[in-house]
Amino acid sequence: MTKREVIEQLLPKRLPAPCVSATAFAPANIALCKYWGKRDPELNLPTAGSLSISLGKLGSEVTLAPRAGRDRFALNGKLVAPESSFARRAAAFLDFFRPTSDFHFEVTAHNTVPTAAGLASSASGFAALTLALNKLFGWKLERRQLSILARLGSGSACRSLFDGFVEWHAGKAASGMDSFAEPLKFNWPDLRVGLVMISDKEKSIGSRDAMQHTRDTSPLYAAWPETVTRDLAELKTAIRTRNFTKLGEIAEGNALAMHATMIAARPSVLYWLPGSVEAIHAVHALRAEGCEVYFTMDAGPNLKLLFRKADVRCVVKEFSDLQVVAPFSA
Ligand code: PMV
Repeated sequence: MTKREVIEQLLPKRLPAPCVSATAFAPANIALCKYWGKRDPELNLPTAGSLSISLGKLGSEVTLAPRAGRDRFALNGKLVAPESSFARRAAAFLDFFRPTSDFHFEVTAHNTVPTAAGLASSASGFAALTLALNKLFGWKLERRQLSILARLGSGSACRSLFDGFVEWHAGKAASGMDSFAEPLKFNWPDLRVGLVMISDKEKSIGSRDAMQHTRDTSPLYAAWPETVTRDLAELKTAIRTRNFTKLGEIAEGNALAMHATMIAARPSVLYWLPGSVEAIHAVHALRAEGCEVYFTMDAGPNLKLLFRKADVRCVVKEFSDLQVVAPFSA
């Protein structure tokens, strides 16, 4: 099935005229059990499920408006060249939704997380873009359908439609209609996520290409889907029983297993910088001293720390520039 066919199935047949403009926000999300590998690259259908936590007010706000002439993109207050990767990816997604071929968009985006630094800005960006399209064109779609649409822009975007803990069901259908995200009912008010910025430079290889290359060439990839299935089940139990040690151990182990698959790809995909390794050692040293903190990492050099409110002080003492997020506090 193609993206266009999926979209045709989801969108209402008769639409009102577009609004003058529409604005929407979506949070960034950090996977505690990762999505890494697709069973269908066209529709961004994952090999296995995944589970994330949304970052509250950290994310993307997108305003869309119809525009005469051609598309125009602005990111964080600056106009962006149409040939930049941001504009090209957004335009390619918007192409599916233009009512006529001469319909163009004014896209104004603001990220409260650094763009393309492995802090999931493409996830919040595509989720916010999907929500803004829903408003602009008056589709009135449900979150589950919007989650499927956002997934077509970037896989992990399907999880950014929701707050708190979010599970993305892998699904089995070739159409991907059963591959959407859903929030878990559990919250965890004293859970904290800390963002350790090692580098905000754009990464040399994006997650789309990196995960395909890993799946195609890494001798360790065969063990990955099974690891995810086990981690996902145990993570849900840890969340349900509020077992922080288990949650941290699984999230850290899952991230390391994912990076192991990519480091073993040929040629290797190594997102880690010297500062990333130093930070990993610092996390391990803190834990040895009784400050209970774990880390996870995505397709980039930065670390995301997981800890509880009671340990904020000892974590910030080590990581003085840490941006601390409380995902469950308003
Ligand atoms: O949705 P993408 O193509 O940006 O891939 C995201 C991949 C990871 O961030 C590494 C893992 C995840 O589950 O978010």
